[in-house]
Amino acid sequence: MQVEHMNEPRSEQPFLIFGSPLIEQAEIDEVVACMESAWLGTGPRVAQFEQDFAAYQRLQTSRVAAVNSCTAALHVSMVAAGLEPGAEVITTPMTFCASVNAIIHAGLAPVLADIDPATQCIDPAAIEAAITPRTRAILPVHFAGRSCEMDAIMAIADKHHLMVIEDCAHAIETTYHGRKVGTFGDFGCFSFYATKNVVTGEGGMITGRDEARIARARVLALHGMSKDAWHRFGDAGYKHYQVIEAGFKYNMMDLQAAIGIHQLARVEKNWRRRETIWNRYMEAFANLPVGLPAPPAPDTRHACHLFSIMIDEARCGISRDDFLNAMNACRIGTGVHYLSMPEHPYYQKRFGWKPEQWPNAMRIGRQTVSLPLSPKLTDADVEHVIGAVRAQCASAK
Ligand SMILES: Cc1ncc(COP(=O)(O)O)c(C=O)c1O
Repeated sequence: MQVEHMNEPRSEQPFLIFGSPLIEQAEIDEVVACMESAWLGTGPRVAQFEQDFAAYQRLQTSRVAAVNSCTAALHVSMVAAGLEPGAEVITTPMTFCASVNAIIHAGLAPVLADIDPATQCIDPAAIEAAITPRTRAILPVHFAGRSCEMDAIMAIADKHHLMVIEDCAHAIETTYHGRKVGTFGDFGCFSFYATKNVVTGEGGMITGRDEARIARARVLALHGMSKDAWHRFGDAGYKHYQVIEAGFKYNMMDLQAAIGIHQLARVEKNWRRRETIWNRYMEAFANLPVGLPAPPAPDTRHACHLFSIMIDEARCGISRDDFLNAMNACRIGTGVHYLSMPEHPYYQKRFGWKPEQWPNAMRIGRQTVSLPLSPKLTDADVEHVIGAVRAQCASAK
């Protein structure tokens, strides 16, 4: 494809949707079977999905609980952690707002620690520097599918007696020193949102070190009721339930699990396809004036959830936002993961945060562009993305 043509609008070309999930016939058939069974709410398919997910994460089923989003998983985990109101939770400014909002909704106080600019994950030294007498927990985010430095983070947590709630929204396949992420801390929280590595539309999973805390999270996720609806209305006879605390309506539906069961069965296949695309991008962009993801650390596995390049206007000759618009004109959907949390007015007003306080996250948030990385991409789609990126860099010079 001629580079000169890449900048031109391509209205004849179908738009390449960012993060489009790969849905296959097995999921469609399972959803139809679920609807025909008329059991749409939490039931046998959720139980199956929990069992499958536990097996994939090498956990007993009693240490996982399905919920209807990762946001719900984070919220419920922080309530189940039993921290006192107003306790400080240290997290990263380079995350989706759900991580910070869940802390707030649990009645806790978010405190930010800057990222390592190379890995874009929270910097353990910055965590240590952010600890105060009111700190009770750390919420690391395995950003883009790359594991945080869990040895260092767990050492800080042990030293200061802090709980750890891992945000694994990007990191279903991620391992660190041979161990799955989400199994280091007290809780791991996973997302099955439509753009994630395993999709249920909306959906989430909590994993936990302590069975009693997971059992509490499960109760909290369904109104605080002692028995879930499946057990109440099953063929074993009506069971009364008791409300044992003020819970939430966060349960996963069988309709969602019907998709998830088959998505999870293909998680490794899809990961391999994303890894292939990732490697192709790395090779194709090696000589461009853009920042590229750091190579995975030794003895870790990167989930390859997001492939983000850094557009520094001084180097690339094009601003990040002009680059986003140019990609859009080439009929390519892109993402920004993420503007740093202190860029948002709510947090500025409520906590007085200014982006400059966390300079690494601020700079990266203003330069980053995520390119399509769905396993659904054809080789031709991948080459189209590569041609478009090259063209922006070439034409901007
Ligand atoms: C890092 C991170 N944490 C939490 C979430 C929230 O996930 P969900 O949409 O399943 O609530 C997301 C979703 O985009 C995320 O990227």
